[in-house]
Amino acid sequence: MTGSLLWTRPLGQRRLLLTLVWIFTAVGSSSGQDNPRIIESPSDQYVGKNEPAKLLCKAEGDPSPDITWYRNGQKVTTDKDDSNSHRLLLSGGSELFFLRIIHTKNLKPDVGTYYCNATNIHGSAISRNASLEIAGESLFVCLFVRLFVCWLVCVRVPLFVCLFVCVQLLMWFYLSSLLNI
Ligand SMILES: *[C@@H]1O[C@H](CO)[C@@H](O)[C@H](O)[C@H]1NC(C)=O
Ligand SMILES: *[C@@H]1O[C@H](CO)[C@@H](O)[C@H](O)[C@H]1NC(C)=O
Repeated sequence: MTGSLLWTRPLGQRRLLLTLVWIFTAVGSSSGQDNPRIIESPSDQYVGKNEPAKLLCKAEGDPSPDITWYRNGQKVTTDKDDSNSHRLLLSGGSELFFLRIIHTKNLKPDVGTYYCNATNIHGSAISRNASLEIAGESLFVCLFVRLFVCWLVCVRVPLFVCLFVCVQLLMWFYLSSLLNI
C-alpha cells in the first residue's frame, strides 16, 4: 500500500518521502546504540602448529566497548597482561593475534572455544563461540597414507627398494609423532 502510494507521487515528492523514511529509520536504529552490540563474531579456525592465527571480533556501542577474549570460559592472557605472551591484542582488542599456535604433547594453550565480550558502562554483549583447532592430518590418516604409499611402491619395484622406502616413511612417522612436530 505504502509502496504504491510512493510510486504514484511525482519525483520530487517521492524523493522527499524516501528521505523522511531514511531519517526515521536512521533515528530509530540509533536509539539502541548505547549497549554494546557484536557486529562481527569470530569464526572457526583450523591452523597448523607453529603457524600464526587470528580471531576477529567487532562491536559497537556508545561509549565504544572494550573487548576481552575468553577461551573455554576463562579470560585469555595476552601481551597486555604479560609482555612475553605469544598472543597479542590488536586494534583495540578486536583482533586476537597468535604469533604462533603452540601445540605439543604436554602444552596445548591455544586450541579451544573462544568468544569475545564487548563491555561498556551500559552492559556487555557476547559473540558467538568460535573454535580454534589444529589443521592437518590426524595420526591415523597419516599412518594410513604412508602405508598406502608403501604398498603402491612395493607393487612396482624390487623388494629392497620397497623395504627401503617403507622403512623411511614409517621412521619419519614414528619420529615426527615422537617429537610432536
Ligand atoms: C560457548 O562456549 C562456552 C564455554 O566454552 C559455553 O559455556 C557456552 O554455552 C557456549 N555458548 C554457545 C552460544 O554455544
Ligand atoms: C563480560 O565482561 C563483563 C565485564 O568484565 C563481566 O562482568 C561479564 O561477566 C563478562 N561476561 C562473560 C560471559 O564473560
